[in-house]
Amino acid sequence: MLIGILKEHKEFEKRVALSPTVAASLIKEGFEITIESGAGDSSYFVNDDYSNAGVKISTDKNAIYQSADIILKVNAPSTEEIQLMKKDAVLISFAWAQTNPDLVEAAAKQGISLCSMDAIPRISRAQKMDALSSQSNLAGYKTVIMGANALGKIFPMLMTAAGTIRPAKVVIMGAGVVGLQAIATANRLGAIVEVSDIRPETKEQIESLGGKFIELDEASDAKTEGGYVKDVSDEFLKKQQALIAKHVSAADLVITTALIFGKKAPLLVTEDMVKNMQNGSVLVDIAVEQGGNCEISEYGKTVVKHGVTIIGEPNLPSLLPLNASELYAKNISAFLLHLTNENAIQWDMNDEITAGALITHQGNIVHPSLKKDLQLN
Ligand code: NAI
Repeated sequence: MLIGILKEHKEFEKRVALSPTVAASLIKEGFEITIESGAGDSSYFVNDDYSNAGVKISTDKNAIYQSADIILKVNAPSTEEIQLMKKDAVLISFAWAQTNPDLVEAAAKQGISLCSMDAIPRISRAQKMDALSSQSNLAGYKTVIMGANALGKIFPMLMTAAGTIRPAKVVIMGAGVVGLQAIATANRLGAIVEVSDIRPETKEQIESLGGKFIELDEASDAKTEGGYVKDVSDEFLKKQQALIAKHVSAADLVITTALIFGKKAPLLVTEDMVKNMQNGSVLVDIAVEQGGNCEISEYGKTVVKHGVTIIGEPNLPSLLPLNASELYAKNISAFLLHLTNENAIQWDMNDEITAGALITHQGNIVHPSLKKDLQLN
């Protein structure tokens, strides 16, 4: 089977779906691979690295779409690109199908099997395919490094002949995969780390990484499912804002990573709270792509407001493209090999991983959560 790899066109995107090393291992498994010339450049993988791994290089993007049995990408192609694909071809990428009805409809109409990396169930058996986690881990690291770099002081305590420097105080909102990696990174750099989350089970995880859990006087009314927060009331969010306000105003660096599954990110840091932060402090809002946890962060920009540097950089994994592309390639290759048996794709709908990731198949929308929401015209 022929795998096609294309250049990514999304703004702020530097990743590529396959690294030369992972490409070589798939070729050993019997696949042929063609890559669009220069697709790996911004991940620092040049054409020669792919050629040496046995990959064919092509400058004809359309020809790759038209000939490949399997297209591997980081971000989904445009609907026009999907229309170039062969009927029965397989497309694997992040698809965010719930919020991308045009993509889902185009994939179903074209008769391709669309598998979404973000829909792979987060079960133990699928851990090596879990691109959400591999990319979030990198984002958690990078957010601390960016915040530290923008701060006019160091993280660790330093005792010098001229006096003692107290350690920096970092407040982190949300202890999912991003937040936990941010705690570990800030802790390793010597900061004092305080963390707020509304899933009670995170307390132990936060403390095991050296963070201090910010106790909320009142239990949250958050509805959770499979480890995700699905809903939380505005009243509770108001109480939470009041409770964390004093921690935020004393912080040197605030990192916000809180998300609610399928919804806009919760508002945790209001403009008034920013006004009370110390002059020269920094806030990194990782949730900016989902509307932001901070009222005044700006997508894709670093701004200074009320004396606070507010970083609204999206797609942090893309800022570490070498690691991010290598890990993503391993995730996507593990998923592809999971689907493949004797050099052919096997669609085992009784398999939780396959059924969880498959969005469209044989002209239909097959994912159970989408069938009821989206209708084909
Ligand atoms: P996420 O990105 O959906 O959310 C980030 C964090 O924001 C969560 O910890 C959530 O509780 C928190 N949050 C939401 N509202 C908040 C608020 N008002 N204040 C403070 N925090 C708030 O989470 P992520 O990283 O995708 O993880 C989701 C779940 O999946 C977790 O339970 C995680 O343990 C689980 N997981 C399981 C894996 C496996 O078993 N293979 C692998 C990775 C994650």
